[in-house]
Amino acid sequence: MKIFMDTANVDEIKEFADQGIVYGVTTNPTLIARSGRTQAEVIPEICKLIPGPVSAEVISTDCQGMVKEAKKLAKIADNVVVKIPCITEGLKAVKILHEKGIHTNVTLVFSLGQALLAARAGATYVSPFIGRLDDIGEDGVQLVADMVKVFRLYDLPTQIIAASIRSVDHVNKVMLTGADIATIPTKVLRELIHHDLTDKGLAKFLEDYRNSKK
Ligand code: E4P
Repeated sequence: MKIFMDTANVDEIKEFADQGIVYGVTTNPTLIARSGRTQAEVIPEICKLIPGPVSAEVISTDCQGMVKEAKKLAKIADNVVVKIPCITEGLKAVKILHEKGIHTNVTLVFSLGQALLAARAGATYVSPFIGRLDDIGEDGVQLVADMVKVFRLYDLPTQIIAASIRSVDHVNKVMLTGADIATIPTKVLRELIHHDLTDKGLAKFLEDYRNSKK
């Protein structure tokens, strides 16, 4: 499973860029607003820091508007992926963009049916939102597991990005489903490295080294 960062904060991306663990980045209008900057400012900077796929979302809700925005976004850098909402007009836009060779990430996916439609329309990536499904009492991880099964069964090339991740437990669980990618918020990514036994073990090793005959 590849790791993406789910943030539009350039400083946070810089913190991880040289660790070699982050393959791509996803943003959305909420994350852009939270960064205090504009999409036009942050996307070029992120694309320079991270050579893998960087998702930037359209705000149009009609096919023509989405395609127009997508063409503009795709010109920013070779690694831009255009995020398109999973609505009828969105799937029409995905088909057109697929034919033009522009990569897409179909977002706001909450069901197996939506995932299949996005894949059949030609989406490069599809993003099931697991945390938001958990919020309404459904099982987000189970949706990802079902999608992995269906995409393999029918040999669909669309890659699955497990999104709306809220915890280390979510990351561990989607890893076991065989999802291609998890897009992880910075806070959760920082927590992934930590284990109490690692800290205690290292402290003991260093103490024993200091106390040993050198
Ligand atoms: C990623 O592509 C999504 O925009 C993001 O994971 C949404 O997460 P949220 O449900 O925490 O807003």
